Amino acid sequence: MGAPNIETIVSLAKRRGFVFPSSEIYGGLGSAWDYGPLGVELCNNVKQAWWRWMVYERDDMEGLDSSIILNRLVWKYSGHEDTFSDPLVDCRNCNSRFRADKLELPDQLRRVVGGNIADFIGEKKIKCPNCGSNDLTEPRPFNLMFKTHVGAMAEDDPASLVYLRPETAQGIFINFANVLTTSRRKLPFGVAQIGKSFRNEVTPGNFIFRTREFEQMEMEYFVRPGEDEHVHQEWIDNCFNWFTGLGISAGNLRLYEQPKEELAHYSKRTVDIQYRFFPEREDEERQWDELMGIANRTDFDLRTHSKKPEDAEGKRLNPDSTEDLSYFDEATKERFYPYVIEPAAGVNRTVLSVLMDAYSEKTNDKGEMRVILKLHPELAPIKAAILPLAKNKPEIVGMAKAIKRSLQPTLRAVYDDTGGIGKLYARQDEIGTPLCVTVDHQSLEDEAVTVRDRDTWEQERVKVSDLGEHLQRRLKT
Ligand code: GAP
Repeated sequence: MGAPNIETIVSLAKRRGFVFPSSEIYGGLGSAWDYGPLGVELCNNVKQAWWRWMVYERDDMEGLDSSIILNRLVWKYSGHEDTFSDPLVDCRNCNSRFRADKLELPDQLRRVVGGNIADFIGEKKIKCPNCGSNDLTEPRPFNLMFKTHVGAMAEDDPASLVYLRPETAQGIFINFANVLTTSRRKLPFGVAQIGKSFRNEVTPGNFIFRTREFEQMEMEYFVRPGEDEHVHQEWIDNCFNWFTGLGISAGNLRLYEQPKEELAHYSKRTVDIQYRFFPEREDEERQWDELMGIANRTDFDLRTHSKKPEDAEGKRLNPDSTEDLSYFDEATKERFYPYVIEPAAGVNRTVLSVLMDAYSEKTNDKGEMRVILKLHPELAPIKAAILPLAKNKPEIVGMAKAIKRSLQPTLRAVYDDTGGIGKLYARQDEIGTPLCVTVDHQSLEDEAVTVRDRDTWEQERVKVSDLGEHLQRRLKT
């Protein structure tokens, strides 16, 4: 069924230890979140699933882990210093600040062709979402990169200025020659990276959907110019299938072709995979937002970071670079800058979408409503819970604890005896544990336990000696 809205997931996440508001004991820090005991497992499982699919299961992939703080020149030549900004608008009445491109347009302006938000603001046709005033300033660019300073230099010394990376991608481009030489790769091949990125978002919000600190899973796939368009389409299809393979229903995913005016400065074509993050919104169009972007970045990045390209007068376009990031094709004896196809997903948005999609409610025999998180077993934070039927019986407790210890080297198992069996099952259902193993009086006689399925609530008796293999098999199907 899926969660009816993000708020349902916010309260489940806090109640069960997936995600907590950050710095809560000091009043919080707007739109920052901490991942609790179950949240960290879920994030790790998402990242491992992505890495396995993207790197291990392919023949054409390498991994990388580049720095968060890079030389400032990286962001100069990538275009981020000049263009990585959102249009910022202030309300003169209540001093709130908003992104102009996200302001709600009145119905009659929604579909104005060629309409410019700045004109509408000037004509006082747009209202402040906070106080309703139409006294708004002209939009002005606000750069989203977080600034900091390196070394023991004065803060106002421009030489000390650096940024926290706003995307992991640039770390891959500037290492292109290093990876190429050390891995002896031939085109086409890709370089994958997972890591934190930072953006001083004007309007963060919607729980972990838009935050200032977040994690990305990005891959740059280098191809010959001319092969870019069909490879781009292949990656769009692959990525869509990856999300459905994680258990997200195809009905809650869609492809969105970015129109020309939305394209980033480096992009020839970008297709977003959107998820239905806002199912409660009446207007179907507003239910969707970006989960992942898949861009054809052309040869923009490798070219811009290279020392050789020149302008019409023969002047180097990048006098600071010491490297040429072109590629020599042995077969054709040609040298060129490869094109780049980039699937870029957010870890946090993936976590939010899998939680929303897995959410379901079921009523038991007593008419009580239970939350069941139907997480894909690969993503479930806990794979098996070992539950003793009688916690005052030392033999049963001892056997249950021994089973837990025997399983833990190969799968994430927990032991719990802090409630009656109904409550223990409900607790595991709510956090998405696919399998519960119950140790009862009979287990002491027949060396067997009951394995209970989260989704069907069906139970089967399994010999303890077969349990490890049995659980592994069940988790794979
Ligand atoms: N290198 C290309 C790039 O960074 P992007 O569309 O800006 O593209 C890729 O970001 C993904 O990163 C998005 O689809 C989203 O999942 C995630 N992301 C971007 N900004 C985010 C934010 N402020 N909070 C959470 N996730 C974010």
